[in-house]
Amino acid sequence: MKDKKITIAIDGYSSCGKSTYAKAIAQRLNYIYIDSGAMYRAVTLACIRAGVANDSGVDEDRLPELLHSLKVGFVPNQSGTGWLTTLNNEVVENEIRTLEVSNLVSPVSAIAMVRSKMTQQQQEMGKQKGIVMDGRDIGTVVFPDAELKIFMTADPVIRAKRRLKEMESKGQNATLEEVLENIEQRDHIDRNREVAPLRQANDAIVLDNSNMTVEQQMEWFQKLYNHITKR
Ligand code: DC
Repeated sequence: MKDKKITIAIDGYSSCGKSTYAKAIAQRLNYIYIDSGAMYRAVTLACIRAGVANDSGVDEDRLPELLHSLKVGFVPNQSGTGWLTTLNNEVVENEIRTLEVSNLVSPVSAIAMVRSKMTQQQQEMGKQKGIVMDGRDIGTVVFPDAELKIFMTADPVIRAKRRLKEMESKGQNATLEEVLENIEQRDHIDRNREVAPLRQANDAIVLDNSNMTVEQQMEWFQKLYNHITKR
């Protein structure tokens, strides 16, 4: 398989550093990186803006119309080193990372209609291979034939601390308790939903990065990649 482009699926719990990791891998291999969670977040933002989702739930009767007219995409960032998420051609990269969206994204993404639209779009993006996609169901549903699957996990408190730091660096306020509660709630919904629940694919390799630096994780990845591509 030397030099042949492959598909890399990275799944796992909320705030495990999947996106940072997937981005670094894509950069190293010169692959395309797609953050599938950003797509679900953009749909959730659209639902909030249209009053289709709020703390009391999601109005599923109004969803088909909203989904029909909704376009989620990505545009390159200014430095050309990554992507910014767009909703109907508007850049919403910051808006989709707020706690309000984080609190509603799991219920919205548990709905079959939402998943089917996003899954189709993700599979289309992966047709050319040479892609790293991170999410919850990439190795199980979106790319079940991916050559390399990683399932990421880490201690919830460590995850909450990392997420809080990231939010603070963007000027967003929250307490550790709020962030931890959100993470645990999302893990629960993502794991227990009926359609495409978060679970480790049979052929995925587990990476618990609770006590690992990014460099150590990259070293771990390189060994795995070399083994899989027989370098
Ligand atoms: O990766 P993230 O935390 O930004 O994802 C936000 C939410 O989107 C997550 O709680 C569940 C949902 N999601 C999903 O259901 N399937 C995916 N492939 C990716 C994300």
